[in-house]
Amino acid sequence: MSETAKIILEGKEYELPVIQGSEGEKAIDISNLRGLSGYITLDPGYKNTGATTSTITFLDGELGVLRHRGYSIEDLAEHCSFIEVTYLLLHGELPTAQQLADFESKITEHTLVNEGLEGMFKAFPTGSHPMGQLSSMISALSLFYPKSLNPHRGEEAINRTVLRLLAKMPTICAMIYKKRLGHPIVYPNNRLDYVTNYLNMTFGQVSDPDYTPDPVIVRAMNKLLILHADHEQNCSASTVRVVGSSQSNLYSSISAGINALWGPLHGGANQEVLEMLELIKEDGGDVTKFINKAKDKNDPFRLMGFGHRVYKNFDPRAKIIKKAADEVLEKLGVNDPVLEIAKKLEEVALNDPYFIDRKLFPNVDFYSGIIYRALGFPTDFFTVLFALGRLPGWISQWQEMRRDKEPIARPRQIYTGEPPRAFVPMDQRK
Ligand code: CMC
Repeated sequence: MSETAKIILEGKEYELPVIQGSEGEKAIDISNLRGLSGYITLDPGYKNTGATTSTITFLDGELGVLRHRGYSIEDLAEHCSFIEVTYLLLHGELPTAQQLADFESKITEHTLVNEGLEGMFKAFPTGSHPMGQLSSMISALSLFYPKSLNPHRGEEAINRTVLRLLAKMPTICAMIYKKRLGHPIVYPNNRLDYVTNYLNMTFGQVSDPDYTPDPVIVRAMNKLLILHADHEQNCSASTVRVVGSSQSNLYSSISAGINALWGPLHGGANQEVLEMLELIKEDGGDVTKFINKAKDKNDPFRLMGFGHRVYKNFDPRAKIIKKAADEVLEKLGVNDPVLEIAKKLEEVALNDPYFIDRKLFPNVDFYSGIIYRALGFPTDFFTVLFALGRLPGWISQWQEMRRDKEPIARPRQIYTGEPPRAFVPMDQRK
């Protein structure tokens, strides 16, 4: 782009390049500003900072648009399987039937996990949070594949790690679920597709080899995983890229992403939403009382599942999930009273000037927990399902960072602490 930005600092003018993305997004390239002028830019929480250029996901927060590799989330959720979307994110193109079959077959070669990993569960205290277990297990995978520690071993070695991660993640998620129940582990069945296999390992029993998950549940799960598959430079994806930029291995980068996702302001919100809805129900169902609490600046309570850093109109994923929740509950014949609370809360919030003025709308996590619960998952397991869906996005972001040879992430700061001062010996300190 020939346009440039001019910035005047202490009377001196600096000209900076302007770049434009393929969807018309514009940015001022400030990477040389400090070298030219001594100034850095300050943007806590990176609210207005592009950390990278990327070809994976486009989203327009004002229009509620989300596309992966150019395809709309609505089309992908309607027509694809999760593993098809995984291929798209990783390779940039939708797979042909043969490419998809090959990809699925390669994944199935790695679905088992080393028995040694199972021993780790014994060390986890009873009731440990599933996300803590998941990040530990994914990090521990690097110990079983020491050659993976070097991210420079070439594309073939990296591809093997990618396949291992995609293959072992559902097995590990299901193991966490079974261990928590004290039930024996159901091993992967490689004749099943990715999502059916995961549900089989989770809800199947060793004593019932004929169990097959309800197709309604398989379809809903596919859709939920697709809706979580990637979301450009969010907190966990940025974490994966930042950790990976130090040339740390893929397992450790993904484990870091899982920990970032765990927080209640990010993926952990799906657990918090359900707990909040339960709380409102137990308190008598007065949603206005909780809306008022969320508006009260002296009260730390926030309406979980509302608001988004980027979406300022609506979250397209929430729209799809809301519809899917209605379908799943109807088909499974579930009558969940928290759904009524959720609907009431949404209606009151969407008509309240506080939420309208701040453009706070239901996000992806507002309805996902209601489906997960209808499918039979415990509340503290919801964020694990988000992680299972987000895995291909994290891997694609890590791969892009590596292939683009991005430098180590190392932000600057403006120091606001004490100026230099004389050391005070212990006996003179007050
Ligand atoms: N309830 C009440 N007030 C809120 C909420 C909420 N959920 N979210 C934002 N606000 C208010 C906030 O107090 C602030 O008000 P004021 O301007 O008067 O100080 C204003 O709205 C802007 O909020 P912010 O915290 O500056 O916005 P942010 O972009 O930094 O935060 C957010 C985005 C998602 C962290 C925030 O909206 C939030 O905490 N939401 C609840 C948690 C949640 O649902 N997270 C899941 C996000 S979607 C899944 C994912 O991708 O991770």
